[in-house]
Amino acid sequence: MSDLKKIKEEFSLKLKSKLNLSEINQVKSDLFGKDGLITSQFKKIGLIDDSERKKFASDLNLIKDELNELIDLKTKEIEIEHINTKLEKEKIDVTLPERNFSSGKIHPVSQTIDEISSIFSEIGFNVEEGPDVENEYNNFTALNTPDNHPARDMHDTFYLDEKKEKLLRTHTSPVQIRTMLKDKPPFKIIAPGRTYRSDSDQTHAPMFHQVEGLHIDKDINMGHLKGCLNYFIKEFFEVDKIKMRFRPSHFPFTEPSAEVDIGYEIRDGKIVIGEGDQWLEILGCGMVHPNVLKNVKVDPTKYQGYAFGIGIDRLAMLKYGINDLRSFFECDYRWLNHYGFDPVDVPTNYRGLSR
Ligand code: PHE
Repeated sequence: MSDLKKIKEEFSLKLKSKLNLSEINQVKSDLFGKDGLITSQFKKIGLIDDSERKKFASDLNLIKDELNELIDLKTKEIEIEHINTKLEKEKIDVTLPERNFSSGKIHPVSQTIDEISSIFSEIGFNVEEGPDVENEYNNFTALNTPDNHPARDMHDTFYLDEKKEKLLRTHTSPVQIRTMLKDKPPFKIIAPGRTYRSDSDQTHAPMFHQVEGLHIDKDINMGHLKGCLNYFIKEFFEVDKIKMRFRPSHFPFTEPSAEVDIGYEIRDGKIVIGEGDQWLEILGCGMVHPNVLKNVKVDPTKYQGYAFGIGIDRLAMLKYGINDLRSFFECDYRWLNHYGFDPVDVPTNYRGLSR
């Protein structure tokens, strides 16, 4: 048998048996590699007698084509087999019911804090934070509330030590002090967070939330305070008009001081903000007392401004129709599922994954 025939028979047989991809590659290099069997036959052509050369060359080409074709067929066969096993393994039954998926809910207080922060950041306020455990100086003394000041009693403070040096902050106003101590004026900040007083009924909880506002610059006056609060309340309640009144009040850290009420009425059992002749107190405010500025080394002859403290929980109750403040903190999942908000950043294609 001629060499060519032998090669053809040997390899045709091989290529009909079961092979994997690396075995196919081996066959390829055995035949067509640099020193492959077919390659060496091609090298021989020049040495062959003129009379036989033509036939040899055409036989060789024929065998080369045949073997190549067999290799292609085998490769395709292996690929198809590979795809089929993959399909078999990864098959999806689209008729199955979807798996249970439960997403968490955003608490109405967190949602309200986000809304408040975004409204104030649009008009240039930065967000600051302070710790829940404060010292007596930041919470009272620096805020112009000396030791025997009656305002200290009004706050029903939770003290954390016998010397009454550490306490749970009774308002967010100490963040005014922290902010002014660490930087130089002007200041334009809000500070949302938890606050604590020993108090509990339908509209008071021992832990509640406030957002502090502070704007100190060279010519800030009470008109700016009014404009800013008016803007905020309209944005927050998403109304074009708001009824708002400033009532004279007293805080040791502001002079003059005011409490702000907003007008509302109950229509068909629902509260309507900005209309009617009922008033609801939502915040305390005033022009920062010169003593407070002195305490934080800001010159009150050059700088002045306003501060306010808004009760966040009460705003959330009003906007979202929740009537018992205590339910905010009872951690009842049924309540949270009802009043909570869907997280906006859960991608829709997340459905179907169980947690
Ligand atoms: N801290 C005051 C309170 O808790 C509110 C307030 C803040 C008043 C800032 C004036 C200025 O009642």
